Amino acid sequence: MAEFTLPANAVVRKNGRQYAASDTASRVRTFKIYRYDPSDGENPRLDHYEVDLDQCGPMILDALIKIKNELDPTLSFRRSCREGICGSCSMNINGRNELACTSAIDQYSGDIEVYPLPHMSVVRDLVTDLSNFYRQYAAIEPWLKSSSKAPERERLQSKKERAELEGLEECILCACCSTSCPSYWWNPDKYLGPAALLTAWRWLADSRDDATKERLNYLSDSFKLYRCHTIMNCTQTCPKGLNPAKAIAEIKKKVATSNL
Ligand code: SF4
Ligand code: SF4
Ligand code: FES
Repeated sequence: MAEFTLPANAVVRKNGRQYAASDTASRVRTFKIYRYDPSDGENPRLDHYEVDLDQCGPMILDALIKIKNELDPTLSFRRSCREGICGSCSMNINGRNELACTSAIDQYSGDIEVYPLPHMSVVRDLVTDLSNFYRQYAAIEPWLKSSSKAPERERLQSKKERAELEGLEECILCACCSTSCPSYWWNPDKYLGPAALLTAWRWLADSRDDATKERLNYLSDSFKLYRCHTIMNCTQTCPKGLNPAKAIAEIKKKVATSNL
């Protein structure tokens, strides 16, 4: 029988440190949070924090901030806007990639488990290394490429042309979609992933952009684009309600109907 060896530090110790709420707390919820510091050589662990919900804001991010401020200042996570527009606080909450700031504590029953985004290198605790993700975003050259002379004011679009960008330009680069995609898990170095591809389509769909052929030539590749097997995890998980799988299908259709 084949034997597999787990990578070092792959096993998460489920019973890490325990932080109890005060005796007077009446509405207590336990948060089990992934803790990992690659520099200490220890396996990751789940620390258990009891939070008094009567003394806490309504969102998962509120609980994390309360834990960091009052129970354990060593807990690391990213956040900025706390209203679903910066994309910083993406993490895996009870098995689903979410934004901590737009996820209400009340929608979960029982203990709440919080992990970093899946299949990513962990810098520390809930902070993942997004360097490759951003490199892929940069690779699709997410800016307007026009061959016409720059006008004195804006490059205008009709309402219909502008409508083509709806559902595309709202992406906040939270990486929830790419890190939920099995194709991306297996080939993160070669497959661009749903977030970068959604933005690639955003520029292909822009009536002001003239680099369609150049963009399609770059994307038309068995790994960069065609590793998408329409599994749809990306669309199911997007916290902004966007549809990366549809955008990818549009790119494939455009490649198929273009004279490259
Ligand atoms: S539809 Fe494509 S990009 Fe989305 S999860 Fe599936 S394989 Fe990944
Ligand atoms: S498409 Fe949605 S899930 Fe993916 S990066 Fe953009 S906002 Fe996040
Ligand atoms: S803190 Fe900005 S999206 Fe959550």
